[in-house]
Amino acid sequence: MCGIVGAISSQNVVPVLIQGLLRLEYRGYDSCGVAVHVQGGLQRARGTSRVAELQAQIEASGFAGATGIAHTRWATHGVPSVDNAHPHFSHGPGEHAGEGPGRIALVHNGIIENYDILRTELQERGYVFRSQTDTEVVAHLIDSLYDGDLLRAVQAALPSLKGAYALAVFCKDEPQRLVGARAGSPLVLGVGPECSSLYLASDALALTGVTDQIVYLEEGDSCDLQTGQYAVYDKTMRPVASRSRPVLTVHPPGSSTDLGPYRHYMQKEIFEQPRAIADTLQGVERIDANLFDGKEEAADAMLRSVDSVLILACGTSYYSGCVARYWLEAIAKIPTQVEVASEFRYRECVPNERTLVVVISQSGETADTLAALRRTRDLGMRRSLTICNVATSAMVRESRLAYITRAGVEIGVASTKAFTTQLAALFLLTLVLARQRNRLDDAQCAEHLRAARHLSAAMQAVLALEPQIMAWAQDFASKEHALFLGRGLHYPIALEGALKLKEISYIHAEAYPAGELKHGPLALVTSAMPVVTVAPNDALLEKLKSNMHEVRARGGVLYVLADADTHIDSEEGLHLIRMPEHYGALSPLLHVLPLQLLAYHTACLRGTDVDKPRNLAKSVTVE
Ligand code: F6R
Repeated sequence: MCGIVGAISSQNVVPVLIQGLLRLEYRGYDSCGVAVHVQGGLQRARGTSRVAELQAQIEASGFAGATGIAHTRWATHGVPSVDNAHPHFSHGPGEHAGEGPGRIALVHNGIIENYDILRTELQERGYVFRSQTDTEVVAHLIDSLYDGDLLRAVQAALPSLKGAYALAVFCKDEPQRLVGARAGSPLVLGVGPECSSLYLASDALALTGVTDQIVYLEEGDSCDLQTGQYAVYDKTMRPVASRSRPVLTVHPPGSSTDLGPYRHYMQKEIFEQPRAIADTLQGVERIDANLFDGKEEAADAMLRSVDSVLILACGTSYYSGCVARYWLEAIAKIPTQVEVASEFRYRECVPNERTLVVVISQSGETADTLAALRRTRDLGMRRSLTICNVATSAMVRESRLAYITRAGVEIGVASTKAFTTQLAALFLLTLVLARQRNRLDDAQCAEHLRAARHLSAAMQAVLALEPQIMAWAQDFASKEHALFLGRGLHYPIALEGALKLKEISYIHAEAYPAGELKHGPLALVTSAMPVVTVAPNDALLEKLKSNMHEVRARGGVLYVLADADTHIDSEEGLHLIRMPEHYGALSPLLHVLPLQLLAYHTACLRGTDVDKPRNLAKSVTVE
């Protein structure tokens, strides 16, 4: 999703801005741009193709500057176009449309909800709008409040903005100054040696190789960057002491961003899962509440005090929560609810202060999940745990307990290794809660842990099935619809398989608990409808076989993932892949792998942009 980089230095900052955009590219965008301060004014380059082409455009024109901002845009208000791409410039009453830039240059992540009213007011005052974006109003608003002090103008504008924003702004009249502000969208400040260069970015990752000295701005903060010094202000616009916004040394995420022998990041990330699981479980010697780092109190006491669990997340992370509900209720016997964060945040619910709120997120910055976490806090539900792949993310910072999955940076928009590592963390949570409540004894815990440690090897064996999946993908590549069926613990895996297929191959895919088939979706089944069935050898297998007969009787073609010892055989209309071994409670972590590979190979055959599927972004920081 949208990305921000800003820099101020004594040197040309354009290479740093471009490098930053390249690092944020994987999040998805449809246009990009850079603006710098040049002698006597503002200059910018914008485009609707890739950052590499913007870079070529800039190199050809040779512009350079010591203060600048850059942006990747993921369209919300206004189509992807050069005019709508950031940075935006103000065009005040004195400057006529088409006659060069005004004095404020600005990039913005988030959504300004009241932009319509502001736009009308500013137009009445003579401001000229050249884009359809909500962002341009902010540039004009700051311009209208500018009296020679950029920080003051930005801070004066903020109370008028409704919605979410991270802003980076500079002004023609103050070349050595960059101002930032955030509310609802992340923004960090990067500090070079002795403040000789200073940076803003929507994610510290953008500054990898530039500086590892990072200040995380908090909700409502604004900041003033001038060569050699910076200052942070809180939401009341008062200066903040450096100890409450400390400079942290932030190491870039573990795994490399090189593709290695792989064709796509998604493929690389699928095959990294055995390593990611091993890393996530590394150092877990025994089942102990201290696995979930506590900031304010011992995790043990907090986890003992809860009487139920509420899991909030979006997309793939939500499906990992759906799997966890089965574990938490079956193994730990603790009542568990799972809800899509975007629904929870706006619904009236009955808060229970003894509920453990668990938010799950790869990025830790997803706007809806973060808002849902805050809403639980406002409702008095203060026992919170984040399961997340980014240790420095807002969700980790804002919850009391955390478990950091060690998937390494996930670049493919379609989540794979983040999902399985989330499941590993949720399984540990289940064991901790179960042990505390005497639902499991030490020997049973040790047995579960042994199985978890063996997962990496078991995953390797499943990934070796790739050639068989590729044969299935040949059939799927020509289809426009697919059904996925599962039962119990594997119903969320069917949901995840369908989501993967639709998001990267653009095939319409739906998942159902198999028992629901005859309550509606069976009407869709014809020989043109492939039906993927996740059929592990568990208590529901015989029921699932009946559902498969229902499909075959209507001419539907089955693609079945069955365990080695299951009495299901290939026959006409039934394609079978045997999983190497049955894996009990942890079986979802294995069954999801063939479904990830199926989506991946189908998408490759259809020639889609696997790592950057259309319309999607990696980190959804707006509602
Ligand atoms: C699907 C996918 C998304 C994310 C969702 C939540 O492959 O990646 O559905 O799972 O946008 O993102 P996080 O986990 O970062 O909160």
